[in-house]
Amino acid sequence: MTPSRRTTGTDPFDPVPADRFTFGLWTVGNPGRDPFGAPVRARLSPARIVEKLAECGAMGVNLHDEDLVPFGSSAAQRDALVREFKRALADHGMVVPMATTNLFSHPVFKDGAFSANDPQVRAFALRKTLDAIDLGVELGATTYVFWGGREGSEADACRDPRLALQRLRDALDFLCGYVQDQGYDLRFALEAKPNEPRGDIYLPTTGHMLHFISTLQHADMVGVNPEVAHETMAGLSFAHGVAQAMEAGKLYHIDLNAQRIGRYDQDLRFGSEDVRQAFLLVRLLEGTLGGARYEGPRHFDAHAYRTEDEQGVWEFARGCMRTYKILHARAVAFDADPEVRALTAELSDRELDPLLAGFAREKVAKLRAAQIDVDAVAQRGLGYERLDQLMLEHLLGVRGA
Ligand code: GCO
Ligand code: MN
Ligand code: MN
Repeated sequence: MTPSRRTTGTDPFDPVPADRFTFGLWTVGNPGRDPFGAPVRARLSPARIVEKLAECGAMGVNLHDEDLVPFGSSAAQRDALVREFKRALADHGMVVPMATTNLFSHPVFKDGAFSANDPQVRAFALRKTLDAIDLGVELGATTYVFWGGREGSEADACRDPRLALQRLRDALDFLCGYVQDQGYDLRFALEAKPNEPRGDIYLPTTGHMLHFISTLQHADMVGVNPEVAHETMAGLSFAHGVAQAMEAGKLYHIDLNAQRIGRYDQDLRFGSEDVRQAFLLVRLLEGTLGGARYEGPRHFDAHAYRTEDEQGVWEFARGCMRTYKILHARAVAFDADPEVRALTAELSDRELDPLLAGFAREKVAKLRAAQIDVDAVAQRGLGYERLDQLMLEHLLGVRGA
């Protein structure tokens, strides 16, 4: 079979595999079910998704165990599904960089998975994850995501939340041990979410996750997978959370989508809401403002509007990737703009700079003696109105195009 890759056209924003874009099978495969209505689209087979995503210019697909192997499949059924999927990947030059476990759909997880009160549930969750890790590794995944959609509570008196954290820690320590024991080349990425949608989830933000990771036995193989929608639900700046993860060397993966504050998880097409945050995020990930660049896959965890048929789903997928590339180009132009550079140039002070980092007893006296004209500094305007307007004009395409 000939690969279905579209030849690159002249449009510089058309995605190509080198852009490293990925989608979950569950994202473009989302049939449009929501709490108030049944599916509106037919289920797409994993092989069809692989073929169409390749045609759209993506690099790969990610999956939950059950996206490929339905719950309760026999070993023979599993092997046949995996074989067929691998063939589709090879035929279309697609890869699987990330895998994960569905620990939320089955009713057995109604009280959580790793944090559930019943040891049978916790044991089952662990066992299901071991199998899903094996599956992910078999497909070539090097990142394993943990999203605890049910790791929380509606009736909060049901358990001591500290015990929940201990159970989550036990599970991750066990699973890290398994990965090391098997000699797998696999890192874990923890995904936070504040609520889903009635219960409060433990470890609700990326910041909470970062601290929790520092308490794990194998902290060096565990990072985060922040999602735009989830930090936005909490009313936080996504770019700031991601920056903290990058600065800590813990941004192992990322879930790109769009979300309005104050709503349940919307998982909208990337960049379709809050274009400013999306711009600041891409600028950060691509390192156009300086500093290190994010090197992992640019993964979209979003789905098409419920109004769409299959054609609309591929428009959605192309839209996510094109918007990312357009924002990247806008960020390059913004950060190269001489006026922007002048406004954001680092101020330096030969006398003060050496005093500011690293304590030494003799610095205290120097700090106290330094001439600082507080009134003059306080009166100086910083030009951030101009800076922000410049950013908007770049974003709106009237400058630096
Ligand atoms: C959600 C989550 C999920 C996870 C996925 C991978 O809010 O539904 O974002 O889509 O990212 O399950 O673990
Ligand atoms: Mn997600
Ligand atoms: Mn989500």
